[in-house]
Amino acid sequence: MCGIVGYIGKQQAAPILLDGLAKLEYRGYDSAGVCVYGENGFEVAKVKGRLAGLNEMIDGGAAMRGSLGIGHTRWATHGAPSQRNSHPHISTNGKISVVHNGIIENYLILKEYLLAHGKSFVSDTDTEVAANLLEYYYELEGDLLAAARRAVEKLAGSYALGILCADCPNTLLAVKKDSPLIVGFGHEENFIASDVPAILRYTREVVYLNDGDMVLFRDGEAEFYNKLGEEVEKIPEHISWEMSAAEKGGFPHFMLKEIFEQPKALRATISDRVKGGRVDLGDVHLSPEYLRGIRRIYIVACGSAYYVGCVGKYILEKTCRIPVEPILASEFRYSEPVLGDDTLVIIISQSGETADTLAALREANELGAHTLAIVNVVGSAISKAAHDVIYTWAGPEIAVATTKAYSTQLSVLYLLALYIGDLLGTLSVEEYEAMLHALNKLPDLLADMLTEDYLAHIKQLAAELKDNHDVFFIGRNLDSATCLEGSLKLKEIAYVHSEAYAAGELKHGPISLIEDKTLVVAVAGVPELFEKTMSNVKEVKARGAEVLGLTTADLEDEIKKTVDRYLLVPKTHPLLQPSLNVVPLQIFSYYMALARGCDVDKPRNLAKSVTVE
Ligand code: G6P
Repeated sequence: MCGIVGYIGKQQAAPILLDGLAKLEYRGYDSAGVCVYGENGFEVAKVKGRLAGLNEMIDGGAAMRGSLGIGHTRWATHGAPSQRNSHPHISTNGKISVVHNGIIENYLILKEYLLAHGKSFVSDTDTEVAANLLEYYYELEGDLLAAARRAVEKLAGSYALGILCADCPNTLLAVKKDSPLIVGFGHEENFIASDVPAILRYTREVVYLNDGDMVLFRDGEAEFYNKLGEEVEKIPEHISWEMSAAEKGGFPHFMLKEIFEQPKALRATISDRVKGGRVDLGDVHLSPEYLRGIRRIYIVACGSAYYVGCVGKYILEKTCRIPVEPILASEFRYSEPVLGDDTLVIIISQSGETADTLAALREANELGAHTLAIVNVVGSAISKAAHDVIYTWAGPEIAVATTKAYSTQLSVLYLLALYIGDLLGTLSVEEYEAMLHALNKLPDLLADMLTEDYLAHIKQLAAELKDNHDVFFIGRNLDSATCLEGSLKLKEIAYVHSEAYAAGELKHGPISLIEDKTLVVAVAGVPELFEKTMSNVKEVKARGAEVLGLTTADLEDEIKKTVDRYLLVPKTHPLLQPSLNVVPLQIFSYYMALARGCDVDKPRNLAKSVTVE
């Protein structure tokens, strides 16, 4: 987590750094800081809390003069959110200033060593160790690049570091390992940043650094070095997407904007991959021979991406007749998974940089499985490490709570199910055509749902239900997987305690928690299980629960016989129904969060990109 940005050029650095940090706040917002190299050397400003506080403190950047600087927005790992622990960190003798994204795992050993060699510390962070280690070697070597090379040899863990040296007024150094870092080339100015939106206003020419790469900007020139220390040439890539994709565009929140972007994102993800009535996944390496040898599929991911995998289990098992196990990346990597060349490991990640997911992917690669990543961020670590990658074309997702990434990830699983089911012959022609037809229609069906009236209805429900402290989401089969996501949404942005339970399982414990007026959200979108779920609804109603039901429009007359309130979605192919069912749950959480006065896009304690274990 954490976002870093750096600028070297001819303009005033501070406003550019603040602007860049504003685009990186999704990575963490516990504190923010900048360091500008001005006439009198380093000038540092940092505040606990949101970037707005820093903006105010330095008058939008006008209060700091200098055209070289680094900035940081923090998600606290080592040490509480405080000004003292905020970046940038300055080394003991004031020679080095550092911003860091990642975790220095051996920081305690290094700290001890540095303390014994005259360095002092003011913060609890691992980053200050990097600053002092760089200074220690700089004092020995007398050269910043040489010092950085020696320092990174000693660092264990993950890092993207932006580094300034008090003796080098025209120099910005950056190095990365296992944390993302891009370099941007402008006219007489250069940038470093954790992510493209931070610098897109200034340049579209970027280089994605590889692990172990260093870049040294010195007197207007950029020098790149690989992990062996060899100077290398880097060819910039052109970013073609528009800045508006990462702006609110008239919506009050990114989350609402992204909910509305789902039809477009689905269209983009699906349409290129359907050619002549068939799913075409380009150069993905899944031959019929290989697929026939597969004994098991793992779907590995974290958070909502994992919940996509939980839906995927039902879809892939039904269409491909291969056992599918969704598993959390943080569990997979330490579970000695049983896999080899007869296992397909599907990795799902919006950011492509989630630490546990990346580690699980590497583990799967090492154990000899074929790995296929479903990723949104082009050029991200996970997209590079997997054997195959299928991109979701959702565009930048800024709200911490995912919506359009979730939906597009699910659509890729449908494509995969069709593709594999077809190659294996486990899907009949009729089934294949029906599912593909429904998939093509999905974006329009979703777009039709997002009317003003639909949203107003859900907003009204949220206003009525906002004071519930405990919510249970229940459903069966595919719906139970959708419930996981609906429940997570409510927790993360509306701060409502909620649990998702397979409806049939409720009476094995959680039903004891149902009291008068406890809210139960019952998702009943699987037609053949509708009555079963309604039986479970009756059980909780008998114990005083208030029930919000969700089903397809054709079952309106049925559901209203049993529940207190209900939400309807259009009917589609049964296997695709979760794609529509999740949408009102996203909107419900959004309005619950608003009604409860929560910060929808930046919920407390969270960050969008989780680059720590
Ligand atoms: C965070 C985000 C979730 C996301 C999860 C995994 O918790 O808030 O929306 O599903 O990380 O992230 P990834 O980038 O790997 O999909």
